[in-house]
Amino acid sequence: MDMTTGKLISIEGSEGAGKSTVQAFVQQYLQQTQIKVVLTREPGGTAFAEEIRNLLLHTKDHEPLEKETELLLMFAARAQHIKHGIVPALDAGAWVVSDRYIDASYAYQGGGRGISQKYLAFLDQWIVAGLYPHLTLLLDIPVEMGFARTALRGTYKDRIEQEKIVFFEQVRAAYLQRASEDPERIKIIDASQSLLEVQAQIKHVLDQFCLREKI
Ligand SMILES: Nc1ncnc2c1ncn2[C@@H]1O[C@H](COP(=O)(O)OP(=O)(O)O)[C@@H](O)[C@H]1O
Ligand SMILES: [Mg+2]
Repeated sequence: MDMTTGKLISIEGSEGAGKSTVQAFVQQYLQQTQIKVVLTREPGGTAFAEEIRNLLLHTKDHEPLEKETELLLMFAARAQHIKHGIVPALDAGAWVVSDRYIDASYAYQGGGRGISQKYLAFLDQWIVAGLYPHLTLLLDIPVEMGFARTALRGTYKDRIEQEKIVFFEQVRAAYLQRASEDPERIKIIDASQSLLEVQAQIKHVLDQFCLREKI
């Protein structure tokens, strides 16, 4: 990647960790620079991928969704997102800030659903093909605390949010495992802290990142 292309930042973490809140803060932070920012999310981020998102999260009245189907739809959406969302934006020099990306598949479909790493690694190599985030902010929070926060957001729960506590404990553990394997890229943020403290942590990580990237 040369200097004229943008950077890819992903925000990860389980329900209620504060991903959407942090995404807005990252946008605000980058507004002080001349950098063009594109906010996006997974599953979704393009018209077609958003349709897949809807299938994954909100379709009711059908037979149970198999974990294999869920995994493949996640990567189908990601293939669209990469080719029609992320790559064009990066090529235009924008910084892309995505609410979830590849690590979420390792956490949810790998950790949560128990799908073998070998299938994840295969799809990762095929679909993501090395387009890894330059920086990942992992918002880590005790599961129950995240739940308490989403409860404030309303009573509606999508298909994945309806999973049990143990599922989210596995998701959290898988995220932390990923972070321990790639500490240069994945920065763990203690998301249990107050909004101001979380923002201070994010600012520190972004300051360090911009320094390293000579922004
Ligand atoms: N550090 C924080 N302390 C307290 N509440 C927070 C914090 N960060 C976010 N919230 C609130 O918790 C809820 C979930 O945050 P949100 O950003 O929607 O999480 P996510 O996108 O990860 O599900 C929102 O109501 C949000 O305002
Ligand atoms: Mg959100």
